[in-house]
Amino acid sequence: MSWQTIDRNKVDQGDLGPGLSDDVKAKIRTFFPRYPSKRAVMLPALHITQEALGYVSLRAMREIADLLEVPPAAVMDVVTFYTHFWTHPKGKKTIVLCRGISCELMGGKAVRAQIEKTLGVADHATTADGRYSYMTEECLAGCDWGPCMLINEKMHKCVKPGDVERILNDPGNDKLDIPRSDLFDAPHK
Ligand code: FES
Repeated sequence: MSWQTIDRNKVDQGDLGPGLSDDVKAKIRTFFPRYPSKRAVMLPALHITQEALGYVSLRAMREIADLLEVPPAAVMDVVTFYTHFWTHPKGKKTIVLCRGISCELMGGKAVRAQIEKTLGVADHATTADGRYSYMTEECLAGCDWGPCMLINEKMHKCVKPGDVERILNDPGNDKLDIPRSDLFDAPHK
């Protein structure tokens, strides 16, 4: 178990990708009164953008920079620091496997190998058919039940390599049907 460096600088400079709609910009602006500066709205802006576009495109980074009155590099710094944010389009389902010590002790490495073999992608990548994006995280706050994996917003505990295929294909892995905050959701229109 260790911190991991992920090369996410493979950004196609020729394609800036989609920008922010007026509704998304308006939702980001609603956060301004809650924070001491526009710059402090960086994380809400990125969450809302990723919810709206599926990722944070280069064009969106520039537009967020304009909204928050910061250099575009300041936005890219944050996007590439947090593994939660993606710089290329995400698949329909996001799979997050814990690589923390508790999960690793309980067999997480074998689960990781099985996921990567089944999907044919390495960490922080999207399958060619756009069905899945896959990433690892340090801890999913389910350390008593390792290995843990999260698909969209549904947690799977005590996962064994033999469970991977069934879990990946489970249609019940979309957002949980329980009351949840829509604070960072994309605006509904
Ligand atoms: S170490 Fe895996 S959930 Fe905490």
